[in-house]
Amino acid sequence: MKAVTWHGKRDVRVEEVPDPRIQDPTDVIVQVTSAGLCGSDLHLYEVLGPFLDEGDILGHEPMGIVEEVGPEVTAVAPGDRVVIPFNVSCGTCFMCDQGLQSQCETTQVREYGSGASLFGYTRLYGQVPGAQAELLRVPFGNTLPIKVPEGPPDDRFVYLSDVLPTAWQAVAYADPPAGGTVAVLGLGPIGDMASRIALHRGHRVIGIDLVDARLERARERGVEALDLREFENGDLADAVRELTGGRGPDSVIDAVGMEAHGAPVAKLTQDFVGYLPDAVAERLMRKAGVDRLHALHLAVELVRRGGTISISGVYGGMADPLPMLVLFDKQVQLRMGQANVWRWVDEILPLLTDEDPLGVDGFATHRVPLSEAPEAYAAFQEKRDGAVKVIFRP
Ligand SMILES: NC(=O)c1ccc[n+]([C@@H]2O[C@H](COP(=O)([O-])OP(=O)(O)OC[C@H]3O[C@@H](n4cnc5c(N)ncnc54)[C@H](O)[C@@H]3O)[C@@H](O)[C@H]2O)c1
Ligand SMILES: [Zn+2]
Ligand SMILES: [Zn+2]
Repeated sequence: MKAVTWHGKRDVRVEEVPDPRIQDPTDVIVQVTSAGLCGSDLHLYEVLGPFLDEGDILGHEPMGIVEEVGPEVTAVAPGDRVVIPFNVSCGTCFMCDQGLQSQCETTQVREYGSGASLFGYTRLYGQVPGAQAELLRVPFGNTLPIKVPEGPPDDRFVYLSDVLPTAWQAVAYADPPAGGTVAVLGLGPIGDMASRIALHRGHRVIGIDLVDARLERARERGVEALDLREFENGDLADAVRELTGGRGPDSVIDAVGMEAHGAPVAKLTQDFVGYLPDAVAERLMRKAGVDRLHALHLAVELVRRGGTISISGVYGGMADPLPMLVLFDKQVQLRMGQANVWRWVDEILPLLTDEDPLGVDGFATHRVPLSEAPEAYAAFQEKRDGAVKVIFRP
């Protein structure tokens, strides 16, 4: 089959690789019809190279048609249409029972002290072959696949694998009071969708980014979007306070993470680490932390006293300093983590109707065959050609 494989910093290729096979009796093989390209994939493209091996298959946002099932699979059958969560979670352990599928005790990667395995996401997360491919082996066939109805186009459901539950969790963890104001840092796919969800729930949303197309897209949905580039140090916080009665927003969602953009020093460090020998870089990244915390610091500065910061952007360092004095003094609540996909499915599915209140049908900006993956990764990373959400159609 064809698959998108990793070969080094900013080097992904489309290659012929062996077809996946049923290995465990509860495995399912899915013929992938759509698979998203995610901001999280950019961390692999840019800085997480030390945790990948050449040839690793990328991707974790798939849907498709069940092609084959193992002998113990009863929940789905060949021909069923399914979305596959990006967490590889068993659905039956203590953590899964609590709705903490991203911490699944059956698939935790204890060697690295990590939570649940993820599709297509480095040795830290189990080195499970990814979903930007024609076929995907899915374990836990009785509990992991989300069955979806026939009829509507893939775009209606594909975001259930990651974007929708991540954005939903971001808003749930942000926990703004009824009618309260949420600031969303980063208007990539996750921040954009979190804004839509917050608006849908009757909140006021102030969005912040530094890419024209993304700011514009958010404005069209009713977000008060501010362009980071127009503010000097500190001025942005003043502007946001001015918009919120001098207090600051009730909640701030950080949908940026360690993706480097607009912070030259951190960008240099990341580039530097990206070119170190793997062993050295791996140690540096895990022990020292080379993350750009610009967005997180901004969140701390913006949030009103007693408010909540909800972090969905991925951070990776171990020793990044946090402004504890400010956090403590402002009595800020911090909530974060990988999305627990299954936890939110029942709440989200009723919104995936023909009325399409969240605008999922038109959410993708690019739909391309796998063969265009190298160019699609580059365009998404450089935020050019209006690339916000790319969906591969294998
Ligand atoms: N928690 C989860 O389960 C989960 C799931 C999916 C993605 N993520 C993470 O969420 C983050 C966003 O993902 P995405 O797909 O939207 O990616 P993305 O890279 O397209 O979006 C990030 C956006 O932040 C903007 N940005 C950069 N620096 C900024 C700053 N200082 N202030 C404000 N905006 C800034 C960028 O211009 C970009 O639009 C990534 O870190 C990704 O890894 C987490
Ligand atoms: Zn993703
Ligand atoms: Zn589990």
